[in-house]
Amino acid sequence: MKTANATSRKRRSLGMLLTMVTVLCVAYPTTRRTRAQRGETNQAELVVRADQPQGKINRNIYGQFAEHLGRLIYGGIWVGEDSPIPNTRGIRNDVVAALKKLNVPVLRWPGGCFADEYHWRDGIGPRDKRPRRPNASWGGVDTNAFGTHEFMDLCETLGAEPYINGNLGSGSPQEMMEWIEYMTSDSDSSLARLRRENGRDKPWKVPYFAVGNESWGCGGEMRPEHYADEYRRYATFIKNYSGNHIQKLAVGSHDDYYAWTEVLMSQAAHHMQGLSLHYYTLPTGNWNKKGSATQFGENAWHATLARTLLMDEFIQKHSAIMDKYDPQKHVGLMVDEWGTWYDGDPGKDMGALYQQNSIRDAIVAGVNLNIFNKHSDRVQMANIAQMVNVLQSMILTDKEKMIVTPTYHVFEMYKVHQGASLIPIEMKAPEYRLGQSSVPALQASASRDAAGKIHISIVNLDPNRAAQVSTRITGATVKNITGRVLTAPAMTTTNTFDKPDAVRPARFTDFQLQGGQITLNLPSKSVVVLELLLD
Ligand code: AHR
Repeated sequence: MKTANATSRKRRSLGMLLTMVTVLCVAYPTTRRTRAQRGETNQAELVVRADQPQGKINRNIYGQFAEHLGRLIYGGIWVGEDSPIPNTRGIRNDVVAALKKLNVPVLRWPGGCFADEYHWRDGIGPRDKRPRRPNASWGGVDTNAFGTHEFMDLCETLGAEPYINGNLGSGSPQEMMEWIEYMTSDSDSSLARLRRENGRDKPWKVPYFAVGNESWGCGGEMRPEHYADEYRRYATFIKNYSGNHIQKLAVGSHDDYYAWTEVLMSQAAHHMQGLSLHYYTLPTGNWNKKGSATQFGENAWHATLARTLLMDEFIQKHSAIMDKYDPQKHVGLMVDEWGTWYDGDPGKDMGALYQQNSIRDAIVAGVNLNIFNKHSDRVQMANIAQMVNVLQSMILTDKEKMIVTPTYHVFEMYKVHQGASLIPIEMKAPEYRLGQSSVPALQASASRDAAGKIHISIVNLDPNRAAQVSTRITGATVKNITGRVLTAPAMTTTNTFDKPDAVRPARFTDFQLQGGQITLNLPSKSVVVLELLLD
């Protein structure tokens, strides 16, 4: 497949990096674990430094991404006004109702690779007159029924800020400039008039606009030096009309491609407000055989978590390069594509890049969101790939049916961190080992919201062992604790259209609060979010 080949080339280095780990894991069958090992409870210590609050966690870290790909837009969001599926102005009511509970802060559109082939004029005006174009990146024909007005309607309905990804690969600076004018100008210009004729009187606000996507790959196979020049040229024509203020985002790196960040920061940092980073978690690290979403054992579980934890290292190292050129951290690192990417399940082709989502994906989501919180001085946005029916999605649909995934529940539980102040933590936890490879058994994050409540999110990565976490909050007296826990009977448990609630959050009650000391008992393979009321 074209896409698989392209991505395998671009992500060449990561596969090699972890092949050794995989080999070692595979060489250590799960059955060798003794019964005693399986039954034990891990002991851990957590200190939450409530007296040392840090900067704000940008709520955009909890952002989403919706590309014209597979059944995301068409079928997943857009069904059209005449559909028997209940909708408002063509957008599915059930999907919108579910997404509203996540407080989606920002939504990236129309791609991805698709962004560099998208021409905005195709998607405005009467729908029956819009051209039908091949979707050259992902297959099929795009009717253009879902265009700028429909996307903005979706954002307004969700209360999400729009993040538009412009076309550098096959578009011109003029086309980009005119799209921005069409959307944001309140003047009497021809393009502003055209927007009004198409049904929108007042201009929209467009706070984020990206110049191309993956320009080192599907966006044009460019060298960083060439892209840096192209970026500067296109970015010059991103204008602010009628009080709109656009943050200009440049195409950043992927994985450990540090040379790209070095060039972009040294040559274009002063022209951008954000630089992207893409990193996908593949169980095997091999783009030609990624691993299954649903048929896997402990080796693949462990390898997936080891790989997803690399996000921390990638952010640290890209940030260190950014610090050299931008010590004041004016340029945000925007992780605008992240999540798991599996092989399609044979016999279950539900559209391009459709994949199921298990408790393993929930653990991946919790781990990554904790990492983004930790780096919230530099990470200003993150957009999981993708929102509906594609990759690590929040929602799966099948015609009129809809379910939410384990990943959805993590986003819903973690929304308490949005816009809160990061609180530093220290976690002393044993390693979760398999063969020669090990990852921390527990990983956490904490924040304090505007009302003064502390929220702690803790992930137990170990699929076999519960954990007892002795927790101390410094500089605060805890009056009351409530919490929720997400776990599942098996590593592979998913929500299905027949059993939509197999994985869903429950009240978390297994804790003691005694004289300032908190003891938490977490089940294996779980995500727990606590709310602490202080005296
Ligand atoms: O999210 C799917 C694809 O992955 C995006 O279109 C592209 O940017 C990336 O390679």
